[in-house]
Amino acid sequence: ATTRHYKFDIKLQKVTRLCHTKSMVTVNGQFPGPRIVAREGDRVVIKVVNHVKNNISIHWHGIRQLQTGWADGPGYVTQCPIQTGQSYVYNFTIVGQRGTLFWHAHVSWLRSTVYGPIVILPKLGVPYPFTKPHKEVPIIFGEWWNADPEAVIAQALQTGGGPNASDAYTINGFPGPLYNCSAKDTFKLKVKPGKTYLLRLINAALNDELFFSIANHTLQVVEADAVYVKPFATDILLIAPGQTTNVLLRTKPKFPNATFFMTARPYVTGLATFDNSTLAGILEYQLPQSHSTLSMKKLPLFKPLLPALNDTSSATKFTTNLRSLASAQFPANVPQKIDKRFFFTIGLGTTPCDKNNNQTCQGPNGTMFAASVNNISFVTPNTALLQAHYFGKSHEVYTPDFPTSPIHAFNYTGTPPNNTMVSNGTKLVVLPYNTSVELVMQDTSILGAESHPLHLHGFNFFVVGQGFGNFDPNNDPKNFNLVDPVERNTVGVPSGGWVAIRFLADNPGVWFMHCHLEIHTSWGLKMAWVVLDGKLPNQKLLPPPADLPKC
Ligand code: C2O
Repeated sequence: ATTRHYKFDIKLQKVTRLCHTKSMVTVNGQFPGPRIVAREGDRVVIKVVNHVKNNISIHWHGIRQLQTGWADGPGYVTQCPIQTGQSYVYNFTIVGQRGTLFWHAHVSWLRSTVYGPIVILPKLGVPYPFTKPHKEVPIIFGEWWNADPEAVIAQALQTGGGPNASDAYTINGFPGPLYNCSAKDTFKLKVKPGKTYLLRLINAALNDELFFSIANHTLQVVEADAVYVKPFATDILLIAPGQTTNVLLRTKPKFPNATFFMTARPYVTGLATFDNSTLAGILEYQLPQSHSTLSMKKLPLFKPLLPALNDTSSATKFTTNLRSLASAQFPANVPQKIDKRFFFTIGLGTTPCDKNNNQTCQGPNGTMFAASVNNISFVTPNTALLQAHYFGKSHEVYTPDFPTSPIHAFNYTGTPPNNTMVSNGTKLVVLPYNTSVELVMQDTSILGAESHPLHLHGFNFFVVGQGFGNFDPNNDPKNFNLVDPVERNTVGVPSGGWVAIRFLADNPGVWFMHCHLEIHTSWGLKMAWVVLDGKLPNQKLLPPPADLPKC
């Protein structure tokens, strides 16, 4: 194992897409940002220097951060943000993980422009449990607003209504030829015939799950959220914000005399307002010598078939195909005996609006939009939760009484209840070290119909069950998969359905859990877990680094 050093200069950069030029916050002037490459077992040290006027922090999404919670990054959760002119060194070791993850800003909506891939290679000399690829290519989905995304979210929160949808989806920063004024800005994947490519797919978009497909090519899924899965072939892939998926692409044995679109569009069961869905890139075969007079432009271009926006059966088929590899070398350590069970309702709701306070009350019935877990809309403190916990000041910042079940009993009928009000609070769950947890998350489908990609910091969890309608505590657990469930850090709680996860709380610290649809996070669909120290030195949170930012 070795140590990898990176320097991230947060600075403004002018970028033009869709004929709009804007000055935006970037890392090192790159969009998307630089790639972090390390091997399993390596230490990664990243110095982040903030040269812009926004406060910022960076989260290493999916990295377990064993004992190094100070390096996790969510603003006001594990650290105060890095202020203008300040810097902070993130220092962590990659333990037991290999595959694809990503990093992104974790303050306000800055992650709309501040994100990039994390590539974790296996330990030196350890092969992949699948065909060795000829080449590896990160493919990162994002969104582009012609406006400043910080202004978009500020306005949404002020008015109490929804934010403006983005102007384009992007693939490696490019919207592609199907948007106006964008033909030049097309991502091209150039390939040779008869080879295997490892595509490292990352959904860094803010607000939509995406279907993805490449015309006339089948993809073989081999990994999800930096954990190997049982390989399976598929034409269509579903990837939620916060998820990563590695797929093998086998190119055609001979030059195909064609080029192929790779496209993505959202999966949304309710609001069709997000249908700006024409993201395309191009898969282009390198011309053989014998075709040297042929022009790529004259070749036919094939478009893939993508499911309809609301095609839940395609979405469900894909997610239920995901299984841990669960081999001798890569076992699935599913907790079998459960210490603590939780039931969380996940969804949107409303909160009172105060016209006198300059708010314009554009939410439903003169309210403001909100979102909650167990009817509690999380209020972000103005100091970091982890510091409060570590320095024994927790009573000043949060209460340890997050409810283990919803405050308003929930029954899914398909129609919203009369009372959609949420309450506000900074409430956390406190768990002794090594508690084995089962958590059932029930989507309420109140005021919106979308799956909620719930992301847990600091852990991988096993997705032991999922279903539609009400979770039935007497019968559904009988069908849980405790043998080879997929292990990941972000799971879609299906719209109008539920998902059950299990994890072992073996990582001391304060760990954020939230919807990775950014507007839902802004509306309060978030909470946090405190995991106490264990008895042994290697079960304790390490002390904070000296340069930990102050609020
Ligand atoms: Cu990728 Cu808390 O986030």
